[in-house]
Amino acid sequence: MQIDLEQAVAALLAEQVVAVPTETVYGLAALATSARAIARIYEVKARPQDNPLICHFWNREQILTCVQDVPEYWQILCDVLSPGPVSYRLPLPTQSPLLPAVAGQSTVVCRIPDQPLCLEVIRQVGVPLAAPSANTSGKVSPTTADMVERDLGSRIAGVLDGGPCSYGLESTILDCCEPHRISILRPGAIGLEEIKTALQRHGFSQIVVVYTDSAQDSVVPGNKYRHYAPNKPLFRVHHATQIPTREPVWVLMSQEQHESCLWPESVHPVLLGSRHNLPKVAQHLYQQIESLDHTAAQVGYYWQEDWGDSSLGRAIANRLNRASQPI
Ligand code: TXA
Ligand code: MG
Repeated sequence: MQIDLEQAVAALLAEQVVAVPTETVYGLAALATSARAIARIYEVKARPQDNPLICHFWNREQILTCVQDVPEYWQILCDVLSPGPVSYRLPLPTQSPLLPAVAGQSTVVCRIPDQPLCLEVIRQVGVPLAAPSANTSGKVSPTTADMVERDLGSRIAGVLDGGPCSYGLESTILDCCEPHRISILRPGAIGLEEIKTALQRHGFSQIVVVYTDSAQDSVVPGNKYRHYAPNKPLFRVHHATQIPTREPVWVLMSQEQHESCLWPESVHPVLLGSRHNLPKVAQHLYQQIESLDHTAAQVGYYWQEDWGDSSLGRAIANRLNRASQPI
């Protein structure tokens, strides 16, 4: 059910859960300070109880009222990169009002979304909003209001439609708990170069910025769970002999991959876009993965390819690899 801004604010204040647009993906929002509202998020998403929730804020000052001991560089980073598709893991005081949202962690992941409707909801509610991606746990994140409706429509108070998300992939998560080092815990649109440039310009060139191998990383509880998958099994292939030719098959691949050889008639390419236009690939990625569920096939395939070293390239490869399994 579609709802407007006023209805979304009223439902949130009544401790209900509501899907809201952000510039990355749609979020399933609830009051971060209410144990009852947070319990509804876990129930609606069937989310494992040990997986903490990202909290969304209206501005930097609102974040500062909830965290402690933030490193000096953080305020600069936040001023340069937020609002935007980036989240910061920060230390949480033992008495924080956000405790219901963090699943027992002593840290909280914070974000200021760059989406006017979403910011207005947070401002009017007056309390930070916990909002994981608005999908059943393990499934693709929704990037349109229709995708939310199809997955969670009957289980939530409503969807605030802000149109298709402009980025289409979840935020970059930065670990900002150490004074001299930033780890990129989840790749996204904001990358290492951008972070380094922001730090260097403001006299923090000594801060080390690194990508962590998120698959093996235990800092992010959500990393141990499967993600971004269609309902059907999605097999990762990189050689023609791995794809059956007697039946019709649907294969996710880039434009360049499609043009690089003559595919048998039985192969239906699901085009992800050009490797030279990664923002567009990111924007439509989850819709393309979800589209496999609307085909006649029992399983789908992803032609594993090199998306390059840029932050978006890494983010796209990360999501596709986690959505798929080796054949
Ligand atoms: O773009 C985004 O970040 C979207 C939009 C809605 O803001 N949200 C999102 O939330 O992607 P979610 O829950 O789908 O992914 C958040 C990830 C999870 O893997 C979770 O384990 C991790 O962040 N996380 C949350 N709080 C954490 C914490 N305190 N420490 C470490 N990891 C945390
Ligand atoms: Mg998610």
